[in-house]
Amino acid sequence: MIGLESRAGRLAVALLLALAFLPASTSAQAPSAAELARGKYVFGATGGCGCHTVPKQPVNAGGRRYDGPFGTVYSSNITPDRETGIGGWTDEQIITATRLGRRPNGERLIPVHPYTVFNGMAADDLKALVAFLRSVPAVKRANQPKKIAVPMFESVFLPAWLAAFAPKESPPTSVPTSGTARGEYLVRAVAHCGECHTPRTMTMATDNSRFLAGNPKGPEDSEVPNITPDKATGLTWSEEEIADYLETGNKPDGDVAGGLMGEVIDGTLAGYKDLTKADRLAIARYLKTIPAVQNKIGK
Ligand code: HEC
Repeated sequence: MIGLESRAGRLAVALLLALAFLPASTSAQAPSAAELARGKYVFGATGGCGCHTVPKQPVNAGGRRYDGPFGTVYSSNITPDRETGIGGWTDEQIITATRLGRRPNGERLIPVHPYTVFNGMAADDLKALVAFLRSVPAVKRANQPKKIAVPMFESVFLPAWLAAFAPKESPPTSVPTSGTARGEYLVRAVAHCGECHTPRTMTMATDNSRFLAGNPKGPEDSEVPNITPDKATGLTWSEEEIADYLETGNKPDGDVAGGLMGEVIDGTLAGYKDLTKADRLAIARYLKTIPAVQNKIGK
């Protein structure tokens, strides 16, 4: 009798243990703390997806206005609200919108959202980013409809433009973890420095033959400096100085980062300032390796 009792007891304990561990190990929904931390890091490396936040308003709730030659578009609510945000989308649908610019209903996104650049993000970073986006407070705020001024923009012009003119990054098979390759990955894909710092051609595509050579009339009409290593018109700061600027916004001459650069450094829930020193140095090192382009921006 005693033996049986203890066997039953052991069985009960085993069952309880199984019950305690099973849900955690089989549910795909609950990301680990490490996955969320990684997602937040990637989110910071994009500059905090700041285009989706109106300064001083709820994070990721969208509604920020962008004017372009095609018309006006407002950034989307990317909080996990099921009705007005992306809470009802699958992970795959969120990733497809992020890197391919397609909504679950097939509709194309206006490339103000830089999907041709985010296409260069590694699958694991995108997955972690999605897990983090789902962890941010949901905000109920309906998306504002875009106003497209060009006839047949989405059906004819945009697909043709994407195919003919828009440079597209390709994803690495695995995330580069150190050295110039790491810097290149962060600059070209995740941090999308070129969206602001690369001049644009007549079609408004980034002119990657002059990668990061500055734009006198960048997003939101900002004057964006040339950060190629050109001695006369580009960035001549040391690697340490560049890495420090990406954390603090302090320039070697005592000035501080303003406007959009201040925004991406500070970020929202995270920004460039939260990148590790190793990553900020990798970015600085990579900037030293790109072709110097003479292009004077500003005075
Ligand atoms: C959202 C647009 C935007 C993005 C993205 C962006 N920048 Fe900037 N950047 C700017 C603007 C605007 C300025 C000018 C800021 C000012 O006037 O204080 C600037 C200034 C700078 C400067 C100072 C240059 C100088 O001569 O004063 C450096 C260095 C720089 N950015 C590097 C980067 C790097 C590296 C990335 C990507 C990791 C990046 N930026 C991403 C808009 C952007």
